[in-house]
Amino acid sequence: MHGVLYYSTISGNTRLVGEALQGFFANAGITLTLQDVAEDANWQDEVDFALFGSGTYAHGMIEKSLRKCVEEIWKEKKIRIPCAAIGLGDHRYDREYNMYAADQLEDWIHEHGGELICTALRINRSPVKPNNQKIIENWAKNFIQNLSKCIDIDYSHRLDY
Ligand SMILES: Cc1cc2nc3c(=O)[nH]c(=O)nc-3n(C[C@H](O)[C@H](O)[C@H](O)COP(=O)(O)O)c2cc1C
Repeated sequence: MHGVLYYSTISGNTRLVGEALQGFFANAGITLTLQDVAEDANWQDEVDFALFGSGTYAHGMIEKSLRKCVEEIWKEKKIRIPCAAIGLGDHRYDREYNMYAADQLEDWIHEHGGELICTALRINRSPVKPNNQKIIENWAKNFIQNLSKCIDIDYSHRLDY
């Protein structure tokens, strides 16, 4: 089982979330490739699932490299695999549009036919805060369980880490 996280990041927070997810997925025998779209905007046809992650900028926008992908480069893409969105934010920048990249990415996935298998992972402030580490871990477990329902592989025995 192999998935990709398409992400972009300014200060590295989304990458940190991706690395944490990579560890939890690896424990369940799932490979997660982290693809920074600022360096490589190629679409991966051979993966079993896709995640899309970004911090929130400029009052609710997806970071510009990933935004360019979804609005321009991948404009015509049809997604036919299980997906989920990851949105980071900080309420001190914008309370109204806190972590709104998650909502934007979910809308995009939905419009392009992707199967959203769980609600977005939303991380407010630093991902290394202990409560956020727990949120990431629980979200990873939930995603893996839902993925196993979609593709009929039982990962439950591997989730007791
Ligand atoms: C200029 C600027 C604007 C921001 N605007 C928002 C915003 O509208 N909503 C929000 O929730 N967070 C906002 N943030 C916080 C970032 O989304 C947050 O720090 C996130 O963890 C950054 O992720 P990254 O390092 O992966 O890019 C803003 C940060 C900066 C520097």
